[in-house]
Amino acid sequence: MIKKNWTISFICLILAGLFFSPVSILADQTQGKKEISLYGGKSGNILFPHHLHQSIVEDCQTCHDDFAQEEGALEAAKKADVLKKKQVMNETCLKCHRALKKAGEKSGPTSCKECHTK
Ligand code: HEC
Ligand code: HEC
Ligand code: HEC
Repeated sequence: MIKKNWTISFICLILAGLFFSPVSILADQTQGKKEISLYGGKSGNILFPHHLHQSIVEDCQTCHDDFAQEEGALEAAKKADVLKKKQVMNETCLKCHRALKKAGEKSGPTSCKECHTK
């Protein structure tokens, strides 16, 4: 009886190890970088707080409908004419920030220099 319990515990331990380690590695990889520098043309680049937005915006696709979850995907989509210049800026970033501000809620920047800081 005791021996059987040990065997079960041992199997559970192995299974837990197999289950949790790849999952946590995967989570780190797919969440992407904490902060991302985005190309902003003559106005200067934008330091975008990515993880902050992941905690505010429930659905990743709110932004990633327009471009893949890959480094450089936004600029690539603009170069391929899938997205226009400033399209994401106006229709995703500013649209949300303005709507929240109007509703009197906590929001993000709406003026050029607050985003284009670099
Ligand atoms: C408010 C907009 C926004 C939201 C919400 C968002 N992302 Fe992103 N994400 C971006 C931008 C902008 C980039 C940069 C793309 C580029 O480099 O061209 C990016 C890049 C990425 C990348 C690739 C670059 C890197 O850092 O490795 C991954 C992976 C990623 N996002 C995953 C996610 C996941 C998972 C979620 C949801 C939990 C999410 N994102 C939510 C805007 C967002
Ligand atoms: C909420 C943040 C934010 C604000 C506020 C903002 N921008 Fe942007 N801007 C971005 C992002 C993100 C990009 C890159 C994605 C895109 O092109 O849609 C960008 C891109 C640009 C580009 C480069 C387009 C290209 O591909 O050459 C210019 C120029 C620009 N913005 C000018 C402005 C001006 C002028 C203002 C003020 C009227 C402004 N931005 C306000 C976030 C912002
Ligand atoms: C669906 C809503 C939503 C979208 C889409 C969104 N934001 Fe925001 N953003 C917010 C909110 C809410 C805050 C305020 C967070 C806080 O202060 O806790 C914020 C804050 C910010 C800040 C200031 C962070 C700080 O530390 O003060 C920047 C910069 C910013 N957003 C840039 C962007 C850019 C660039 C995009 C587009 C790629 C974007 N946001 C898309 C809701 C959004």
